[in-house]
Amino acid sequence: MEGRNVSAAFARGEAIEFEGIYLNHYFTDNWDNIKNFQARPDDILINTYPKAGTTWVSYILDLLYFGNTAPERQASLPIYERIPFLEAAYPGMPSGVDRTNGLTTTPRLIKCHLPVQLVPKSFWEQNCKIVYVARNAKDSAVSYYHFSRMNFIAPEPGDWNTYLQKFMNGKLVFGPWYDHVHGFWEKKQIYSNIHYMFYEDMIEDIGREVEHLCSFLGLSPPIEERERIIKSAHFNAMKQNNMTNYSTMPTMDFKISPFLRKGKVGDWKTHFTVAQNEMFDKHYKQKMKHIPLQFRTEI
Ligand code: A3P
Repeated sequence: MEGRNVSAAFARGEAIEFEGIYLNHYFTDNWDNIKNFQARPDDILINTYPKAGTTWVSYILDLLYFGNTAPERQASLPIYERIPFLEAAYPGMPSGVDRTNGLTTTPRLIKCHLPVQLVPKSFWEQNCKIVYVARNAKDSAVSYYHFSRMNFIAPEPGDWNTYLQKFMNGKLVFGPWYDHVHGFWEKKQIYSNIHYMFYEDMIEDIGREVEHLCSFLGLSPPIEERERIIKSAHFNAMKQNNMTNYSTMPTMDFKISPFLRKGKVGDWKTHFTVAQNEMFDKHYKQKMKHIPLQFRTEI
């Protein structure tokens, strides 16, 4: 889609209330098939609130499982085809459910942004492994804002101040960040097959995080291979790789903002005014009062 006549091809959906959260119709149109999706015991679900580093961890998983065995996959299959986005139903493209059911590789790696209560129940019944990534609220809000500007299936973001208010009020697609990160954290206490990761930890020490991820998955790649994977999944390498940078995704306009934008902890400081920061901190304190999760907004 050179020139990116994307706005004509994809109408921005409205955020609508659905099953207790805000979604847009691209994620509800195929709802019955999502709800009834049949997971397999060896499926691996990658779940995040949007913009937490889903693509980064997805690519690492893809390389861990298929990096050595499927060179054509690495060379010619965009990440969103390798790792289907379960709830997506975009016009002119196979739905996430159809893409997943069409996968011939094992394990199936599946991306999902649904909050814990809306994850199809077969994932729990099959005791699937779930990799959850959380990112601090301020950087998540900033990243989501720029993504909503460039991705023409997202509701119109409006200006930054309006967007931040919507983030705080849980009115963005996929609902409140606060409930999302907390929901999976709570679930992890009773469902041991969740590996809960933090974007900030990945930025701080990706080697350590890949090692923990491998122990969770029961993988023990040789150290050289782990290093190769970490190198390939570096921000700059992923940004230059057309199979991981989303440049082939027809809903996105890179002239507005790239998908791999900054890849940092603390970019929120270039967006929040002092007043917005004070207001946000006050609200955050209240929302997170009983939630035993600590996020780092700088490292
Ligand atoms: P920024 O917009 O802050 O740059 P998701 O994949 O969940 O949509 O998350 C996208 C965010 O993760 C973007 O954040 C993107 O730049 C960042 N990201 C993707 N790959 C990364 C990598 N290899 N290293 C660091 N950050 C990465």
